[in-house]
Amino acid sequence: MATILHITAHPHDHQTSYSMAVGKAFIDAYREANPNDEVIPIDLYSISVPHIDADVFSGWGKLRGGQDFSSLSKDEQSKVARLGELTDQFVAADKYVFVTPMWNFSFPPIMKAYIDSLCTAGKTFKYTENGPVGLLPGKKALHIQARGGVYSEGPAAAMEMGHRYLSIIMGFFGITDFQGIFVEGHNQFPDKAQQIKEEAIARAKDLAKSF
Ligand SMILES: Cc1cc2nc3c(=O)[nH]c(=O)nc-3n(C[C@H](O)[C@H](O)[C@H](O)COP(=O)(O)O)c2cc1C
Repeated sequence: MATILHITAHPHDHQTSYSMAVGKAFIDAYREANPNDEVIPIDLYSISVPHIDADVFSGWGKLRGGQDFSSLSKDEQSKVARLGELTDQFVAADKYVFVTPMWNFSFPPIMKAYIDSLCTAGKTFKYTENGPVGLLPGKKALHIQARGGVYSEGPAAAMEMGHRYLSIIMGFFGITDFQGIFVEGHNQFPDKAQQIKEEAIARAKDLAKSF
Protein backbone atom coordinates (compact mmCIF):
# COMPACT_ATOMS: atom_id res chain seq x y z
CA MET A 1 0.00 0.00 0.00
CA ALA A 2 1.41 3.38 -1.02
CA THR A 3 0.72 6.79 0.47
CA ILE A 4 0.12 9.68 -1.92
CA LEU A 5 -0.03 13.34 -0.88
CA HIS A 6 -2.51 15.43 -2.89
CA ILE A 7 -1.07 18.89 -2.26
CA THR A 8 -3.23 21.75 -3.52
CA ALA A 9 -2.17 25.40 -3.51
CA HIS A 10 -5.37 27.03 -4.70
CA PRO A 11 -7.98 29.18 -2.95
CA HIS A 12 -10.77 27.78 -5.18
CA ASP A 13 -12.15 24.31 -5.90
CA HIS A 14 -12.50 22.15 -8.99
CA GLN A 15 -15.69 23.88 -10.12
CA THR A 16 -13.97 27.17 -10.95
CA SER A 17 -10.28 26.25 -11.20
CA TYR A 18 -8.82 24.45 -14.20
CA SER A 19 -5.87 23.07 -12.23
CA MET A 20 -8.11 21.84 -9.42
CA ALA A 21 -10.45 20.19 -11.96
CA VAL A 22 -7.56 18.31 -13.57
CA GLY A 23 -6.12 17.47 -10.14
CA LYS A 24 -9.47 16.02 -9.03
CA ALA A 25 -9.77 13.97 -12.23
CA PHE A 26 -6.28 12.59 -11.58
CA ILE A 27 -6.95 11.71 -7.94
CA ASP A 28 -10.38 10.18 -8.67
CA ALA A 29 -8.83 7.96 -11.35
CA TYR A 30 -5.86 7.15 -9.11
CA ARG A 31 -8.18 6.05 -6.28
CA GLU A 32 -10.10 3.84 -8.69
CA ALA A 33 -6.88 2.21 -9.97
CA ASN A 34 -5.32 1.90 -6.49
CA PRO A 35 -8.16 1.33 -4.02
CA ASN A 36 -5.79 0.21 -1.25
CA ASP A 37 -3.53 3.26 -1.38
CA GLU A 38 -3.94 6.07 1.10
CA VAL A 39 -4.58 9.48 -0.46
CA ILE A 40 -3.88 12.35 1.95
CA PRO A 41 -5.28 15.73 0.87
CA ILE A 42 -3.17 18.73 1.88
CA ASP A 43 -4.99 21.99 1.17
CA LEU A 44 -2.28 24.58 1.70
CA TYR A 45 -4.89 27.35 1.97
CA SER A 46 -6.53 25.72 4.98
CA ILE A 47 -3.64 24.27 6.98
CA SER A 48 -0.94 26.03 8.97
CA VAL A 49 2.33 26.46 7.04
CA PRO A 50 4.65 28.67 9.11
CA HIS A 51 6.88 31.07 7.21
CA ILE A 52 10.57 30.99 8.11
CA ASP A 53 10.58 34.09 10.32
CA ALA A 54 12.42 35.49 13.36
CA ASP A 55 10.78 32.94 15.74
CA VAL A 56 11.83 30.05 13.53
CA PHE A 57 15.40 31.32 13.24
CA SER A 58 15.70 31.92 16.98
CA GLY A 59 14.11 28.52 17.76
CA TRP A 60 16.42 26.68 15.39
CA GLY A 61 19.39 28.66 16.78
CA LYS A 62 18.57 27.64 20.36
CA LEU A 63 18.24 23.97 19.40
CA ARG A 64 21.52 24.08 17.46
CA GLY A 65 23.13 25.65 20.54
CA GLY A 66 22.09 22.60 22.58
CA GLN A 67 19.08 24.10 24.36
CA ASP A 68 16.12 21.90 25.18
CA PHE A 69 12.95 22.22 23.05
CA SER A 70 11.01 23.17 26.20
CA SER A 71 13.22 26.24 26.66
CA LEU A 72 11.94 27.74 23.38
CA SER A 73 9.22 30.41 23.54
CA LYS A 74 5.64 29.34 22.80
CA ASP A 75 5.77 30.79 19.26
CA GLU A 76 9.18 29.27 18.58
CA GLN A 77 7.96 25.87 19.76
CA SER A 78 4.76 25.86 17.71
CA LYS A 79 6.37 27.07 14.47
CA VAL A 80 9.46 24.84 14.69
CA ALA A 81 7.31 21.81 15.59
CA ARG A 82 4.84 22.46 12.76
CA LEU A 83 7.65 22.76 10.18
CA GLY A 84 9.00 19.43 11.44
CA GLU A 85 5.55 17.81 11.15
CA LEU A 86 5.18 18.93 7.53
CA THR A 87 8.61 17.55 6.63
CA ASP A 88 7.96 14.25 8.41
CA GLN A 89 4.61 13.82 6.65
CA PHE A 90 6.31 14.43 3.29
CA VAL A 91 9.17 12.03 4.02
CA ALA A 92 6.72 9.29 5.10
CA ALA A 93 4.79 9.44 1.78
CA ASP A 94 5.66 7.58 -1.42
CA LYS A 95 4.16 9.80 -4.11
CA TYR A 96 3.21 13.44 -4.49
CA VAL A 97 0.73 15.31 -6.66
CA PHE A 98 1.14 19.09 -6.55
CA VAL A 99 -1.72 21.17 -7.96
CA THR A 100 -1.08 24.87 -8.55
CA PRO A 101 -2.31 27.67 -10.81
CA MET A 102 0.32 29.73 -12.66
CA TRP A 103 0.50 33.08 -10.91
CA ASN A 104 3.02 35.55 -12.25
CA PHE A 105 5.08 32.89 -14.00
CA SER A 106 5.29 30.54 -11.00
CA PHE A 107 2.76 29.52 -8.31
CA PRO A 108 1.00 31.02 -5.24
CA PRO A 109 3.30 32.07 -2.38
CA ILE A 110 1.87 29.48 0.02
CA MET A 111 3.45 26.85 -2.22
CA LYS A 112 6.88 28.44 -1.70
CA ALA A 113 6.27 28.48 2.07
CA TYR A 114 5.40 24.76 1.91
CA ILE A 115 8.56 23.98 -0.08
CA ASP A 116 10.59 25.94 2.47
CA SER A 117 9.05 23.77 5.20
CA LEU A 118 10.34 20.64 3.42
CA CYS A 119 13.93 21.72 2.81
CA THR A 120 15.36 20.27 6.00
CA ALA A 121 18.95 19.00 6.05
CA GLY A 122 19.06 15.46 7.38
CA LYS A 123 15.46 14.69 6.34
CA THR A 124 14.96 15.53 2.65
CA PHE A 125 18.62 16.11 1.72
CA LYS A 126 22.03 16.07 3.34
CA TYR A 127 25.28 17.91 2.73
CA THR A 128 28.33 15.82 1.86
CA GLU A 129 31.90 16.57 0.79
CA ASN A 130 30.67 16.20 -2.79
CA GLY A 131 27.76 18.57 -2.36
CA PRO A 132 24.11 18.03 -1.38
CA VAL A 133 22.54 14.57 -1.77
CA GLY A 134 18.77 13.95 -1.91
CA LEU A 135 17.38 11.56 0.70
CA LEU A 136 14.12 10.62 -1.07
CA PRO A 137 15.22 8.54 -4.08
CA GLY A 138 12.65 6.16 -5.56
CA LYS A 139 9.66 8.42 -4.84
CA LYS A 140 7.65 9.99 -7.63
CA ALA A 141 5.97 13.33 -8.14
CA LEU A 142 3.56 15.05 -10.50
CA HIS A 143 2.82 18.74 -10.94
CA ILE A 144 -0.53 19.76 -12.40
CA GLN A 145 -0.77 23.42 -13.36
CA ALA A 146 -3.19 25.64 -15.31
CA ARG A 147 -1.73 28.60 -17.16
CA GLY A 148 -3.53 31.25 -19.17
CA GLY A 149 -0.81 31.28 -21.84
CA VAL A 150 1.49 28.63 -23.27
CA TYR A 151 4.78 27.93 -21.48
CA SER A 152 5.66 24.32 -22.21
CA GLU A 153 7.04 25.44 -25.59
CA GLY A 154 7.41 28.58 -27.68
CA PRO A 155 8.58 32.11 -26.84
CA ALA A 156 7.22 32.20 -23.25
CA ALA A 157 8.91 28.93 -22.19
CA ALA A 158 11.93 30.79 -20.75
CA MET A 159 9.64 32.77 -18.43
CA GLU A 160 8.19 29.68 -16.73
CA MET A 161 9.57 29.47 -13.17
CA GLY A 162 7.09 27.36 -11.20
CA HIS A 163 7.41 23.89 -12.71
CA ARG A 164 11.13 24.46 -13.27
CA TYR A 165 11.63 25.45 -9.63
CA LEU A 166 9.63 22.48 -8.37
CA SER A 167 11.64 20.21 -10.66
CA ILE A 168 14.90 21.52 -9.16
CA ILE A 169 13.58 21.03 -5.61
CA MET A 170 12.41 17.47 -6.38
CA GLY A 171 15.85 16.71 -7.85
CA PHE A 172 17.45 18.24 -4.73
CA PHE A 173 15.42 15.73 -2.66
CA GLY A 174 16.53 12.88 -4.97
CA ILE A 175 13.11 12.59 -6.67
CA THR A 176 13.99 12.25 -10.34
CA ASP A 177 10.66 10.76 -11.45
CA PHE A 178 8.87 14.10 -11.82
CA GLN A 179 6.25 14.82 -14.46
CA GLY A 180 3.97 17.68 -15.39
CA ILE A 181 0.45 17.99 -16.78
CA PHE A 182 -0.31 21.50 -17.98
CA VAL A 183 -3.66 23.01 -18.88
CA GLU A 184 -2.37 25.92 -20.85
CA GLY A 185 -3.36 28.55 -23.37
CA HIS A 186 -7.08 28.74 -22.50
CA ASN A 187 -6.91 32.51 -21.83
CA GLN A 188 -4.83 33.10 -24.94
CA PHE A 189 -7.18 30.98 -27.09
CA PRO A 190 -10.59 31.28 -25.37
CA ASP A 191 -12.44 29.54 -28.19
CA LYS A 192 -10.36 26.41 -27.48
CA ALA A 193 -10.63 26.61 -23.67
CA GLN A 194 -13.04 23.70 -23.25
CA GLN A 195 -11.01 21.46 -25.55
CA ILE A 196 -7.75 22.35 -23.73
CA LYS A 197 -9.34 21.46 -20.38
CA GLU A 198 -10.84 18.21 -21.63
CA GLU A 199 -7.53 17.11 -23.17
CA ALA A 200 -5.69 17.77 -19.90
CA ILE A 201 -8.33 15.82 -17.95
CA ALA A 202 -7.93 12.90 -20.37
CA ARG A 203 -4.12 12.98 -19.93
CA ALA A 204 -4.53 13.09 -16.15
CA LYS A 205 -6.92 10.09 -16.10
CA ASP A 206 -4.57 8.16 -18.34
CA LEU A 207 -1.46 8.87 -16.25
CA ALA A 208 -3.31 8.03 -13.01
CA LYS A 209 -3.60 4.39 -14.12
CA SER A 210 0.19 3.91 -14.16
CA PHE A 211 1.39 6.51 -11.63
C1 LIG B 1 -2.72 36.41 -9.75
C2 LIG B 1 -2.72 35.79 -11.12
C3 LIG B 1 -1.54 35.76 -11.86
C4 LIG B 1 -1.50 35.15 -13.11
N1 LIG B 1 -0.32 35.09 -13.80
C5 LIG B 1 -0.29 34.48 -15.01
C6 LIG B 1 0.93 34.37 -15.72
O1 LIG B 1 1.99 34.77 -15.28
N2 LIG B 1 0.90 33.78 -16.94
C7 LIG B 1 -0.26 33.26 -17.47
O2 LIG B 1 -0.22 32.73 -18.57
N3 LIG B 1 -1.42 33.33 -16.80
C8 LIG B 1 -1.46 33.93 -15.59
N4 LIG B 1 -2.63 34.00 -14.90
C9 LIG B 1 -3.80 33.27 -15.44
C10 LIG B 1 -3.89 31.91 -14.81
O3 LIG B 1 -2.70 31.18 -14.94
C11 LIG B 1 -5.03 31.10 -15.44
O4 LIG B 1 -6.25 31.80 -15.24
C12 LIG B 1 -5.12 29.70 -14.88
O5 LIG B 1 -6.28 29.08 -15.40
C13 LIG B 1 -5.17 29.73 -13.36
O6 LIG B 1 -5.39 28.43 -12.86
P1 LIG B 1 -6.80 27.98 -12.31
O7 LIG B 1 -7.75 27.90 -13.47
O8 LIG B 1 -6.53 26.70 -11.65
O9 LIG B 1 -7.24 29.04 -11.33
C14 LIG B 1 -2.69 34.59 -13.66
C15 LIG B 1 -3.87 34.64 -12.90
C16 LIG B 1 -3.89 35.23 -11.66
C17 LIG B 1 -5.17 35.24 -10.87
